[in-house]
Amino acid sequence: MNIDGKAWRTIWLEPDSGLGSYAIGVIDQTLLPHQFTTRTLRSCAEAADAISTMVVRGAPLIGVTGAYGLMLALQADPGDTSLAAAFEQLNATRPTAINLRWALERVRAKVQPLAPAERAEAAKAEAAAIADEDVAMCDAIGNHGLAIFQQLAAARPGARLNVLTHCNAGWLATVDWGTALAPIYKAHRAGLPIHVWVDETRPRNQGASLTAYELAKEGVPHTVIVDNAGGHLMQHGQVDAVIVGTDRTTRRGDVCNKIGTYLKALAAHDNGVPFYVALPASTIDWTIGDGVAEIPIEARSAEEVTHIQGRGADGAITTVQLTPTGSAGFNPAFDVTPARLVTGLITERGVAAATEAGLQELYGND
Ligand code: MRU
Repeated sequence: MNIDGKAWRTIWLEPDSGLGSYAIGVIDQTLLPHQFTTRTLRSCAEAADAISTMVVRGAPLIGVTGAYGLMLALQADPGDTSLAAAFEQLNATRPTAINLRWALERVRAKVQPLAPAERAEAAKAEAAAIADEDVAMCDAIGNHGLAIFQQLAAARPGARLNVLTHCNAGWLATVDWGTALAPIYKAHRAGLPIHVWVDETRPRNQGASLTAYELAKEGVPHTVIVDNAGGHLMQHGQVDAVIVGTDRTTRRGDVCNKIGTYLKALAAHDNGVPFYVALPASTIDWTIGDGVAEIPIEARSAEEVTHIQGRGADGAITTVQLTPTGSAGFNPAFDVTPARLVTGLITERGVAAATEAGLQELYGND
């Protein structure tokens, strides 16, 4: 994506001081939209910390950061013990997004059979391949989603196409383009009169801070709303479609995404609003059928509920307390939307019904 005239990906290699060794560059997403700052990650521990503290976030980007984290570990020590420890350290950072385990397993399968001296280079190549594939998949998701938006717009010529999204499933959540936002970018560039309702997405406000930032940079008309406004807007015909990302999709088409997604799906169902979920193949967990019963839901710090970050009048980024001192907070980071509430899964291979048969039709021969 272009930020103020410069093309960016969310993660990149940086030559490091050691001969032939590399560091990882990332955008610090904890400071957006107020400060655009990059960070350099030089060790597996730093990569793990960046994922845990959400300097990087979004399922596909978490996966790519994990893959490069293994490279960093193997540069420092390419032995079997180092590989196993790095895998565990990175895999433990965020339990819900399946892309992380998928990417770690993919790199481990490449490097494990090799001589230690060859492992860091092989990990680098595999991580780069995962990153490039992610860009290609998101680009393709954008094209398939664009076709849906074109059909919706054609049904109401001249009218504004109002799309609601939750959390951030844009280029910041991936390597480039995004999943749910890719069709929105393509629609805007194709000249469709698209307008986005952006759920603020408490508690960390990825909608208000990251999605709004992305859409503003791309010039896409958008309006930030509180999380509870979506149902009301749907009742009054103000939402033509909902589109969100997913951190883990079961083989039956249940989708696990940012907390609050399920309530939007229920409201969409009640109001006959199509509810689409955009995802690359790396987000499908073929080992799981029932998302509610089987997907581990990350519980994050209660402080993310009791406190909120913003920019003060002096320009400084600051955190303030919302709740009475001593009030408990609980912070499940994701929820599961059952497949029956999902109109379609927009993948890099096309749009699938949110059923086992629908996913099999697209991926069955792999
Ligand atoms: O906690 P986050 O910010 O990592 O959650 C991100 C989401 O819920 C996204 O919707 C999901 O990862 C899909 S991103 C393409």
